[in-house]
Amino acid sequence: MKNRKPNSLRIRIYGDKTLRKIAKPVTEFTEDIKDFISDLVYTMYEKDGVGLAAPQVGRSLRIFVVDPFWFKEEGKKNPLVLVNPEFKEFKGEIESDEGCLSIPNIFEPVKRAEMVVIEGLNEKGKTVRYEAEDLFSRALQHENDHLDGILFVDKIPKLKRMFLKKKLHDMEIRTDKNGVNIGELPL
Ligand code: CO
Repeated sequence: MKNRKPNSLRIRIYGDKTLRKIAKPVTEFTEDIKDFISDLVYTMYEKDGVGLAAPQVGRSLRIFVVDPFWFKEEGKKNPLVLVNPEFKEFKGEIESDEGCLSIPNIFEPVKRAEMVVIEGLNEKGKTVRYEAEDLFSRALQHENDHLDGILFVDKIPKLKRMFLKKKLHDMEIRTDKNGVNIGELPL
């Protein structure tokens, strides 16, 4: 393993086109992909995120990272990497608040499956399978949605979404073609 310092990646903000694309599967674990995954993990912790998906940093690939236990375990890092993930099971339904690094300052309750089973490849290309509940389950579903161009604000009830419409529109028109927020984010 070569020693490489991970880079901080820039988070694309709502209005960026990559956030709305269907991401492509990873076909080979090249050095570039491995480096990218370590940058993604680094950026997730740097931005205090529970998870981070490749499209959120401008790469339309089916990769995300999560660490739902970071806060609980007093800063002990245990990043989980999912490449080409697929859900195998959904059970129950539960509503809880969500936010997203790509949609700053907006937090809304979203209905999700209570329990999920997911399979995918880890950073080494080895098959992994997780059964998840609570925040872990929610994080997996939220991040996996990013790979299909879906954002949590798409999933909130219509009436609530109407109230958010202006905020989202303001954010969108302040986001340039590189996904950079130009000017103040709407409060
Ligand atoms: Co998100």
